[in-house]
Amino acid sequence: MFLGIDLGTSALKLCLADGDLRVAGSASAPLTLSHPQPGWSEQHPDSWSQALRTALAALSENADLSKITAIGLSGQMHGAVLLDAGLRPIRRAILWNDSRAHQEAARLDRDPDLARIAGVRPAPGFTAPKLSWLKTHEPEAYTRIAHILLPKDWLALGLHGARVTDPCDAAGTWWLDQAARQWSDTLCATTDTDPAWLPEIVEGTEIAGRVTASAAAEFGLPEGCPVATGGGDAAVGAVALGATKPGAGFVSLGTSGQLFLPTDSYRPAPEVGLHSFAHCVPETWFQMAAMLNGARPMAWFAEIVGESVPTLLSDAAEAGTDALPLFLPYLTGERTPHNDPAIRASFYGLAEGVTRGQLMRTVIEGIAYSFADAADAVRAATPLPETLLALGGGARSDLVLQTIADATGLTLARGDGAEIGPAFGAAKLAAAATGALSLPDLAEQPEITARFTPNPATAARHADRLAASRALYEALKQVRD
Ligand code: XUL
Repeated sequence: MFLGIDLGTSALKLCLADGDLRVAGSASAPLTLSHPQPGWSEQHPDSWSQALRTALAALSENADLSKITAIGLSGQMHGAVLLDAGLRPIRRAILWNDSRAHQEAARLDRDPDLARIAGVRPAPGFTAPKLSWLKTHEPEAYTRIAHILLPKDWLALGLHGARVTDPCDAAGTWWLDQAARQWSDTLCATTDTDPAWLPEIVEGTEIAGRVTASAAAEFGLPEGCPVATGGGDAAVGAVALGATKPGAGFVSLGTSGQLFLPTDSYRPAPEVGLHSFAHCVPETWFQMAAMLNGARPMAWFAEIVGESVPTLLSDAAEAGTDALPLFLPYLTGERTPHNDPAIRASFYGLAEGVTRGQLMRTVIEGIAYSFADAADAVRAATPLPETLLALGGGARSDLVLQTIADATGLTLARGDGAEIGPAFGAAKLAAAATGALSLPDLAEQPEITARFTPNPATAARHADRLAASRALYEALKQVRD
């Protein structure tokens, strides 16, 4: 049996897969975020270890953990896990959706040559600008730094004791020379980072270490069990869907959102807001439009009105599309296409009598237009495949997928196991690391269970509303500035 661990932002998820990579069990444990100041987003690494213990205990109620033959990891990317010389966290981790380092990112953005090495324009959520922020604002913490890890690599350290990361999580730091798949001295020097602090880079399909005796006792996992490096969640979600070779592609609708295409060479296109990153499988890269808000605005709206997302989705389906307001989904700023950490979400055009169903439908359309922007950014650099698979919690809804298909002009397909996402991809990487699955077989795609083709009758309406949403963003930027 192969165990996939996905350290998400709102939950840690486990997926157990049998020798034929059929899902044999799953469990999860919730995680909470702390926002000590507006725009800040933090979690303590110890809460991740605790979530792993909780989720494994839940999994062990229905599965025999001693049968696990390999483990793979996936995790939220870009977080700064800062450790002292004794490998203890110096402070809470600063996460991917934290925008405090916006001035540092703006400074780095003045030199376009750096983005061509790093594969993307600098954003405050990446790890590197946070180090420059820390040096200025928390000098005491900064002087204690001896090691830096990415979030999933902290869990790996607890399992096997080695400091390693994979090329994709390394890519998301903004310290990686993407073409060479090695740390860049230039990028480290410009962001107050000593390369000696950074972990060894090991391909995601390789064994990074083995479960130690103390980890075996702590987590109930078999001692000596091999642990594959795994990858950042964007790349491991791709592995779950078999998107490891050019020609495949997908959209991800989780707390964050992505439009992702694998490539067989490094193809930087920072000028259109794309991320060109090393994949977690050897000799592969990807181009990605990355949206900070994904499907999260639906859950945000549900929390505000005190109703469940499924109920609001059926209200939205009933509400129809007449007389809808507009919604910009930028709750935490946006990366692709704006690279704008300071913009925030907004409704526009609220009239007397607007219903919550109409507002939910408007939220869905706002998400769909952010994917239309993403699709245009990708199209400017590379042709899009005709059909894209869809994954993540938002992909469970027919209404959401149909709206995105209509707004983008792309056909979307839901595959078997779409909800399992990166945890399943991590189990596949575990199988690959032990040789139970060949690298070409990682590209096997799930069976398609539903297909959403764009409805031409809606095209003109969506084109108008997309144009209006873009104009609204420009107008709000003026108000803000
Ligand atoms: C990718 C990204 C997200 C985070 C959180 O660039 O920001 O995938 O890893 O899920």
